[in-house]
Amino acid sequence: MAQGKDSLQQILDDVASAAFATPDRGRVADYIPELARVNPDQFAVAVARPGKKTMFAGDAHTPFSIQSVSKVFTLALALGKVGDRLWARVGREPSGQAFDSMILLEQEKGRPRNPFINAGAIVTTDTVLAGSSPRETLGSLLRFVRAAAGDDNIHINESVAQSEITTGHRNFALAHFLLSHGNLANAPDLVLGTYFHQCAIEMTCTQLANAGLFLVGDKAAPRLVSPDRIRRINALMMTCGHYDGSGDYAYRVGLPGKSGVGGGILTIVPGIASVAVWSPGLNNYGNSKLGTEAMQRFADMTGWSVF
Ligand code: DON
Repeated sequence: MAQGKDSLQQILDDVASAAFATPDRGRVADYIPELARVNPDQFAVAVARPGKKTMFAGDAHTPFSIQSVSKVFTLALALGKVGDRLWARVGREPSGQAFDSMILLEQEKGRPRNPFINAGAIVTTDTVLAGSSPRETLGSLLRFVRAAAGDDNIHINESVAQSEITTGHRNFALAHFLLSHGNLANAPDLVLGTYFHQCAIEMTCTQLANAGLFLVGDKAAPRLVSPDRIRRINALMMTCGHYDGSGDYAYRVGLPGKSGVGGGILTIVPGIASVAVWSPGLNNYGNSKLGTEAMQRFADMTGWSVF
């Protein structure tokens, strides 16, 4: 376990040096044209601890597209709105399939396996959208994220959202399939417009680490959800947060995490810290390659683990 500020800063510097020196940086997501243009040489890590100064190394003040990391915040909002009724529409099991897979959705009659695969996230967004407009829903989501991060300078990148609206054919297919099974209350273009904008939220690594503090479960952290929900959201991050790479992430890092195709990963060390890493190149699961490697190194060096 890292002791004090200096040793933790040393660990962050070591993790960043190792990442910058790694030649194989993975492949930047290219199915969203705006993301294909991001420079893969970037890397950042940041650690937020309740009541302490956030520490970082690398490009920790460069905003990036949080993409599927946003699903954690939407899940928190959806559970706040409808509570356990959400689970009538979405499961809580790992899918063992890619984030945009359709195969289980057909076999399981339109009930997505979990809220982090795209189909499940579309249903979760649909739940938050019910009774409000996309603008109001995105306003609530931004208010939640800004309150969590303690920072109002967090915005949606409209070009990224539009880029996905133009090219997100699989998500349209998933939404229409959900609708055909009666598992979508709002029109697919409304739900997806909201979903694509939620994915297009941009944050820096330090902002994302700060925004994860509400899941650490410490009295000094922002209290946005109940302790019971904190436990449940972390459990889902551990089992489903990296799609078909969730077992691999649990094995390597031993902590609940949620990835996004923008190359960000939010990892929670229960009772201790919220850690964000960012490197745009992805591995074969669609999760940040260097981000995963960096978190493995970080967990080894700090000894922080739930196991
Ligand atoms: O729906 C999509 O495909 C993207 N907006 C988000 C996917 C994503 O981030 C998957 N995570 N690794």
